[in-house]
Amino acid sequence: MQRLSIHHFQQKKTKGERFAMVTCYDATFAQLLELAGIEIVLVGDSLGNVIKGEATTTMVTMEEMIYHTQCVVRGSSKMLIVADMPFGSYQITHDQALHNGFRLIKEGGAGAIKIEGGQRYASLVRDFVEQGIPVVGHLGLTPQSVHQLGGYRVQGKKAEDAKKIKEDAHLLEAAGCFAIVLECVPEDLATEISQSLQIPVIGIGAGVHTDAQILVLQDMLGLNTHSLPKFVRNYAELGNQTVDALARYQDDVLNGHFPSKEESYH
Ligand code: KIV
Repeated sequence: MQRLSIHHFQQKKTKGERFAMVTCYDATFAQLLELAGIEIVLVGDSLGNVIKGEATTTMVTMEEMIYHTQCVVRGSSKMLIVADMPFGSYQITHDQALHNGFRLIKEGGAGAIKIEGGQRYASLVRDFVEQGIPVVGHLGLTPQSVHQLGGYRVQGKKAEDAKKIKEDAHLLEAAGCFAIVLECVPEDLATEISQSLQIPVIGIGAGVHTDAQILVLQDMLGLNTHSLPKFVRNYAELGNQTVDALARYQDDVLNGHFPSKEESYH
């Protein structure tokens, strides 16, 4: 089956149709996402937090991104797979960035990449696109810059910061990004940017008026035990269900109730 291409999502923008995106890091969940009809997925460097248990995304490596992208590719056949360029993989030189972008496509199997940042990366976006690598931009709260930002905070509240985010969004569009993730910005700012760009704006903590939404899968399924930002809605309580299932299994084993006669070979 042919995977969905970036044009599918650009057409949605033209037709005024919304779409939902989630993160994914493995083949099991990739299969479930497709069964649910999800059409676009991000192999996010949030795997640093979600999979590796780290406090930030800054320690994620190219090898880890390639490995998890391969897992998601193997578990799916239709979704467009966007893979994050990890911190340090595109900041040093254009050549290094292009080399790593090619690796996510050739070795990982991604259909597109995502990078964080605005104006500074516009010419890099242009190079990627010229080389045939579709790019998603990422503005607002850019978690790879957490040490510089001093924490995970709403961005673009001050007029000058909002102006910069708007300018960056237009520069990334002009450079060839086919979509932009806008994270943790005031709703009005996200609305204005979404309405003024021709490409889809994918919001996270950016209000309801963006063209699409993205959430971290484990957060929205209730699999995380730590506190979550206010923009996350729990669509399931799989964490509680998992703990309950494991406790019941352990009880059954300790009490000699598992396995039953029917679950044994005779
Ligand atoms: O890595 C990630 O999961 C992301 C999303 C939060 C947009 O960049």
